[in-house]
Amino acid sequence: MARQFSGIKPTGEMHVGNYVGAVGRWVDQQDDGIFCVVDLHAMTMPYDPADLRSETVRLATLLLASGLDPQRCTLFVQSHVPVVAELTWILNCVATVGELRRMTQFKEKGDGQESVSAGLLDYPVLMAADILLYDTDEVPVGEDQTQHVELTRDVATRFNHRFGDTLVVPKATVPPVGARIKDLQNPTAKMSKSLESPQGTILVLDEPKAITKKVKSAVTDSDTEVRYDVEAKPGVSNLLALLSVATGTPVPDLETEYATSGYGTFKGAVADALVEYLRPTRERYAELAADPAELARFLAVGAARAEAIASATMDRVRTAVGLLATR
Ligand code: TYM
Repeated sequence: MARQFSGIKPTGEMHVGNYVGAVGRWVDQQDDGIFCVVDLHAMTMPYDPADLRSETVRLATLLLASGLDPQRCTLFVQSHVPVVAELTWILNCVATVGELRRMTQFKEKGDGQESVSAGLLDYPVLMAADILLYDTDEVPVGEDQTQHVELTRDVATRFNHRFGDTLVVPKATVPPVGARIKDLQNPTAKMSKSLESPQGTILVLDEPKAITKKVKSAVTDSDTEVRYDVEAKPGVSNLLALLSVATGTPVPDLETEYATSGYGTFKGAVADALVEYLRPTRERYAELAADPAELARFLAVGAARAEAIASATMDRVRTAVGLLATR
């Protein structure tokens, strides 16, 4: 079976874009998958250490609440398997500064900053180390991360060419619908964790009332037709994608169903569907958050399982690159 690995950053609250683009699919295909709260990736921009700790716990709890089951998959915190930093260093000597500078995320986050951390430039190499450490075949992500997975493929291929066949070359998988969920207030921009647009971002833990309010005030267009056309009707298309994923109904069927309903009825249906889609997670979250000791136990088991895979990969890598064995 193809091994799946993916990660999510503990910065800001998990939103419906994360859920549709990635986490919902992790849950659906979780058997033997490896999923990670990438705390080291959350350190590339200025941050507060106490917030990092609490957001790591909160996100891990939310992943369990979403339906990841520690009996079926491995869920762990990135920094609990510290050899990922060693592999990052080794891959740093294979990746080039030129290719890292070309990454869209680096350009967007670094743009206009007086000074950026070396970690921000190196972010995709740490991500490559995550993926390659666990002999990953498939990386379920949203569209914004596919460039980083392409870089991972390039680095792994180059490594294998230089040092012999050592690393599994992975590929990204994106969902057919909802690979890039847009901000409800600005439907040409991606929905994101930064708090720039609270009204345009549906959080997984939002109360039903808040979800309904945000969907009802979503920006659409001056037309009345419910039709999927990302260029001409970005707002309506985004709502159609959300409704399709939340109800499991193909977009063309929804276009037929709501063709003449008007935007008011259509938005009402989207709001109701999202409330139901997210309800089980919100309800389980409250229960799980009440028992942090249980979470810590799950994460310890996850780290031990991940560590066993990682250490076998590192033995191969160290030998391939010419590092001396310790015994
Ligand atoms: P992060 O934490 O920004 O996002 C987690 C996942 O959510 C997806 N996503 C979206 N999908 C659809 N629409 C959106 N608006 C949207 N916004 C976010 C992301 O594509 C991602 O799949 N660098 C990664 C974390 C990471 C990782 C890894 C992922 C670190 N190491 C190894 C895969 C494999 C990130 O910042 O994701």
